[in-house]
Amino acid sequence: MPKKKKKKTKKEKKSKDDSPEKPVEEEVSLEDLPGIGEKTAEKLQENGFNDLMSIAVASAATLVEIAGLTKTTAMKVIREARDRLDMGFKTGEDFLKKRKETGKIVTGSEELDKLIGGGIETQAIFEAFGEYGSGKSQIGFQIAVNAQLPVEQGGLGGKVVFIDTEGTFRPERIKQLAEDKGLDPQVALKNIMVARAYTSDHQMLLAEKVKELAKTEDIKLVIIDSVMALFRSEYTGRGTLADRQQKVNKHMHYLQKIADMYNVAIYITNQVMARPNIFFGNPTTAVGGHVLAHTSTYRVYLRKSKGGKRIARLIDSPHLPEGEAVFKITGDGIKDA
Ligand code: GTP
Ligand code: MG
Repeated sequence: MPKKKKKKTKKEKKSKDDSPEKPVEEEVSLEDLPGIGEKTAEKLQENGFNDLMSIAVASAATLVEIAGLTKTTAMKVIREARDRLDMGFKTGEDFLKKRKETGKIVTGSEELDKLIGGGIETQAIFEAFGEYGSGKSQIGFQIAVNAQLPVEQGGLGGKVVFIDTEGTFRPERIKQLAEDKGLDPQVALKNIMVARAYTSDHQMLLAEKVKELAKTEDIKLVIIDSVMALFRSEYTGRGTLADRQQKVNKHMHYLQKIADMYNVAIYITNQVMARPNIFFGNPTTAVGGHVLAHTSTYRVYLRKSKGGKRIARLIDSPHLPEGEAVFKITGDGIKDA
């Protein structure tokens, strides 16, 4: 009974005040929470849990995984964080409700959109992998422009962060794509914040900066092109693989957290490596191993086809049927074939 009553007031509150304000985040030491010592607080912070809100919206399983808490303690900590946000948590609840309202960014190809459930989704990580020239970066450029379009036109009316690890970001291309969409090319470029990452640590640091940015800027899309290249070139020996995967895991969880907290779409590109011992099926596989495979919400394998066409194949989607879509890359951007 009391539950019902609560719901009603929540609804009333929402209809009255539907401002897009983000909740005020209280900067409190995590060590103030019961069951969290110095070491645990450190581990949490390393993984991007810096404030009560991030704990309050975390799942117990995540805290167990990254901080080694017992499930009971994790649940207690989360409950405590929620309690402490008390007055603030009204807005926190509204915030949580809002983040359920995912948005989508169209790709420019209706066939491709259909395959992936309508477009690149917020609060999720979308991974595109494939060989060189398969269109991974081009899709990135296209959605960097499309994300700026109003919702009626398949965008989210927001800004974009582009983390470039390979030095392949092309402003001229953005201009071209913006013109095709009727956007002012100069404005379109201003709405994309580009950073070149030089090392994997730098890349991870930039992801942390995104969280700061997202507090003040209306960021709707974060692109990392490509997510594994730096990790791959830095961690070469066999013995370093475990270290690498641990870092990648942390990076990916951090990205997912940004996606959840700020209702942002994450688009990452990934390379493939040949599997010469495979004779049937797909002879290539995405780099990054299980970590990447498990943390990406959507995975699409891109390949080149006849006549300049591209084929996208949806792999392991939790709620969409597997399938393929054909599209093409033109001077004006991604289009139906
Ligand atoms: P790597 O980063 O090398 O792994 O490849 P990628 O998958 O990121 O490839 P990318 O998205 O850069 O695709 C490059 C391909 O897009 C080129 O080979 C062209 O076929 C196509 N492309 C790029 N720009 C244009 C353009 O202006 N017009 C046309 N028609 N095609 C273009
Ligand atoms: Mg590329």
